[in-house]
Amino acid sequence: MWRAAMSEEVGKAIQSVLERVTQAATRRPRTLPAVTPRLVAVSKTKPPEMIVEAYRHGQRNFGENYVNELVEKASDPLILESCPEIKWHFIGHLQKNNVNKLLGVSNLFLVETVDSAKLADRVNSSWQRLRGADTQRLKVMVQINTSGEQNKHGLPPEETVSTVKYIVSQCSALHFLGLMTIGRYGYDLTLGPNPDFQMLLSRRQEVCDSLKLPLEEVELSMGMSTDFEHAIEVGATNVRVGSIIFGNREYPNSATNTPNPSPNPSPAHSPEKTSKVVCEEAAKKMHHLTV
Ligand SMILES: Cc1ncc(COP(=O)(O)O)c(C=O)c1O
Repeated sequence: MWRAAMSEEVGKAIQSVLERVTQAATRRPRTLPAVTPRLVAVSKTKPPEMIVEAYRHGQRNFGENYVNELVEKASDPLILESCPEIKWHFIGHLQKNNVNKLLGVSNLFLVETVDSAKLADRVNSSWQRLRGADTQRLKVMVQINTSGEQNKHGLPPEETVSTVKYIVSQCSALHFLGLMTIGRYGYDLTLGPNPDFQMLLSRRQEVCDSLKLPLEEVELSMGMSTDFEHAIEVGATNVRVGSIIFGNREYPNSATNTPNPSPNPSPAHSPEKTSKVVCEEAAKKMHHLTV
């Protein structure tokens, strides 16, 4: 019974978010590349059953923050059997000692959080070693700390061009796909376009100018549950959306948790939920985002 309810909830949420993604893309200025934005469903802390339900409703791209959690889910028998075309995105902080483990994940589609030339080197050599010389290159994005906050990972913005240059010229097993940011939480859009997204756009322009790359070949991963439409309107090609699809995340020892989780998943927010409420929730969970 709860399974049917969960399936319906997840299905409706996916459909609603996809509609909003499509609508937001129509509001993009024509000066931006007309790339169909990719929706990454962030399944961190959510059980394999929910991932399978989202997959059954057509979702293919899923994002995880922790290497161990991703390894576990990617090798889960239910997911292996039900989701043969799943595409895993790694969206959390990557430590060098975890690179081999991560790269062993089957159906790993994209590592969004390469944040130094040294890490790129490690990922490059591991990919060459693990997958052999004539395999496909591994897609990577470079994560930029656009807000300059100390608790955020990511490359200082001024090192973007040199790092991308390094990857493109020295890391033959990697395919540089674009730039990623998390940015400051709870930005008030009535103040104008989100400066973190603007910063990512301008760094992309610099990368394209100095490396002679076409704009449409350098993607932008930015935007989450509270701001993915705005992100798309200003140029995101990849949005990472979790809580409005799967419901709020539950963490051990958190005051925001329900004390006795029922088998019912926490309901996904309705799209009509006011941005104020959503922002308050985002603020509450800020300290849980170790990215
Ligand atoms: C890097 C990253 N992107 C996106 C998300 C999804 O956030 P939300 O649930 O607000 O959509 C998370 C959540 O942990 C995250 O860590």
